[in-house]
Amino acid sequence: MTLNTAPHRPLEMRPLSKKLGVEIRGVDLADLDDAVFAKLKEAFDIHGVVVLPGQKLTPEELRAFGRRFGPLETHTLLQYTLPDYPEIYVLSNLEENGKPLGAHNEGIGWHTDLSYKERPVMATMLYGIMCPPEGGDTLFADMSAAWDALPEARKAELDGKKIQHSYQKWMATRADRAPLTEEQKAKTPDVTHPLVRTHPATGRKSLFIGTGTVYGLEGVSNPEGKRIVDELVDYATGEDFVLVHKWTEGDVVMWDNRRTLHTGTLFDDTKYKRHIHRMMVQGDVPA
Ligand SMILES: [Fe+2]
Repeated sequence: MTLNTAPHRPLEMRPLSKKLGVEIRGVDLADLDDAVFAKLKEAFDIHGVVVLPGQKLTPEELRAFGRRFGPLETHTLLQYTLPDYPEIYVLSNLEENGKPLGAHNEGIGWHTDLSYKERPVMATMLYGIMCPPEGGDTLFADMSAAWDALPEARKAELDGKKIQHSYQKWMATRADRAPLTEEQKAKTPDVTHPLVRTHPATGRKSLFIGTGTVYGLEGVSNPEGKRIVDELVDYATGEDFVLVHKWTEGDVVMWDNRRTLHTGTLFDDTKYKRHIHRMMVQGDVPA
């Protein structure tokens, strides 16, 4: 094993808010040694959102960076993945020969990625290749800070409850998507997760909530169960807990799905182009 000990520029770390997010400059993700990677990993666990501006990465380099955090999620639908890179999913409003190059307007509404799976993804990484000068922001909400700020009595009521997710029920409400095949349905059974989860690296608790695939709360019939979750989402995505990322080309932004909710915002796609590569790192069963 060779340990790369080449000298590197000191990392410049700047917190992006009081609680959530850090920007790190002075790193070239295409040429990352073990010592710098260890610092990035630590920053990711502590800050929940890491912004790494000024990157220039081939798909190979991007994938190699992602793999340092763990096995990458591959996608069942290959329509929008990069040829030869099933781990890299393209978000884009560009077209080639009349065909869209990627998924467009995905990820609007507060959620964590693949939370409808038994093992939701740990981290998501986006690499901004073309970014509109306005709109198309990514917003993050800090579910640890939101949990910490709840009154003790409310924490006692919520801790131990389970939240219910159904990919199938959610997809059935989406007129813009083709119905799921039997094979896809077999791969996406309904799941329950703890409403409050503990971060394995920091021991901090977070609300594990969202919209979209969430349909209720175990042991509380609807509409009451759904109402409780929606009310928590409204509370936890209030101004105090939210960080807004405005994109610049070359940004790599990664976030911890165990600790944050996120949502995209729309942009004027008649005026601007947006082209982004996305990867996800596999995660554990929430505990
Ligand atoms: Fe997402």
